[in-house]
Amino acid sequence: MKLLVTGGAGFIGSCFVRTALAEGWAAQVVNFDKLTYAGNLENVAPVAEHPGYRFIHADICDEDSVEQALRDEAPDAIVHFAAESHVDRSIHSPAPVIQTNFNGTFTLLEASRRRNIGQFVHVSTDEVYGSIAEPHEADERYPLQASSPYSASKAGSDLLALSYYTTYKMNLSVTRASNNYGPYQFPEKLIPLMISNALEDKPLPVYGDGQQVRDWLYVEDHCRAIKAVLDKGRAGEIYNIGGNCSLPNLDVVKRILKATGKPDSLITRVMDRPGHDRRYALTNAKLTGETGWEPRVNFEQGLQATVDWYTRNRNWVEKIKSGEYRRFYELNYSNEKPSR
Ligand code: NAD
Ligand code: DAU
Repeated sequence: MKLLVTGGAGFIGSCFVRTALAEGWAAQVVNFDKLTYAGNLENVAPVAEHPGYRFIHADICDEDSVEQALRDEAPDAIVHFAAESHVDRSIHSPAPVIQTNFNGTFTLLEASRRRNIGQFVHVSTDEVYGSIAEPHEADERYPLQASSPYSASKAGSDLLALSYYTTYKMNLSVTRASNNYGPYQFPEKLIPLMISNALEDKPLPVYGDGQQVRDWLYVEDHCRAIKAVLDKGRAGEIYNIGGNCSLPNLDVVKRILKATGKPDSLITRVMDRPGHDRRYALTNAKLTGETGWEPRVNFEQGLQATVDWYTRNRNWVEKIKSGEYRRFYELNYSNEKPSR
């Protein structure tokens, strides 16, 4: 089995690449990544020398690069993670979000159709359902109600992807996961930002009243769910992937302070995010019923593992913050040497 993974240098994609090679989910994994600010080759350093690993530095919006990669590599399946993934950035600067998440997905779908790629998993998000009032949970037929440019770009790309099943009979499934956390997450997202600020005794900025609810999914559980969809998912179907762990943000932040041994006085209330969704909630019943998948890591274990990882890897955060990683990349992987 040869997989082509887009966005494999990011947080979730890199976990998938590392696990796929370590667990033998695929003999060969091609990582196709543009290396935006969020892409980091250190995330895949543990598999960089693996004989089945190959890196292609390219943009999913670039038709020629996508076409060439699919022609040269001829993967059996594509797992499509690449995206601009941060809601706050999408609010400040929506253009790259629409470009990559919608147009980039279109480019990849078109090339996959032309080259008859055997299977396509489009990785999406529970944000497409918008805010969900208690006590309801979204199943896969729940109406789409995207609030931010990010979630709208993902909702649009979900519909586009599904149209390739309906119209062209592409073997394609869509996954919609809840908030991921774990090692290697870019420190702009709630959990890694709060951990790294706490470790540096900096203020922890909580948006609004901090009572917004998110469902937390450990990244390795997410990757196992995608593998379950690759193995047993049905074409044309959507699969929710949730962590069975709904918590208000303020609770999460207080748990981080406890785990890092820092005082609650570091919590700082800041202005709310515009259009901030109040609550996300999912049911996993379909995925569990069809594949047997269930989340294995509870929040206490997962958060402790994440705090431990960020405590041990402060250099990783520091390099990102100082921009050293960008310089590292430019020195080591120039345009003359695009693949590795
Ligand atoms: P991330 O921001 O950590 O990584 C994104 C990766 O995509 C980076 O390596 C980046 O370089 C690459 N990329 C961006 N634009 C590209 C382009 N035009 N061409 C090629 N590569 C490009 O993101 P993440 O948190 O790992 O999310 C991965 C996927 O999972 C996204 O599709 C996201 O919508 C989805 N998702 C994320 C979460 C979450 O909590 N993080 C939850 C549900 C779904
Ligand atoms: O639900 C899945 C989505 O989860 C993914 O599709 C996105 O790619 C991913 O970024 C994430 O989106 P969120 O907006 O939920 O994640 P974020 O970590 O940015 O914020 C989580 C919650 O914490 C949200 O209610 C906003 C709040 N928050 C976030 C930050 C960064 C704060 O209160 N303070 C902060 O500084």
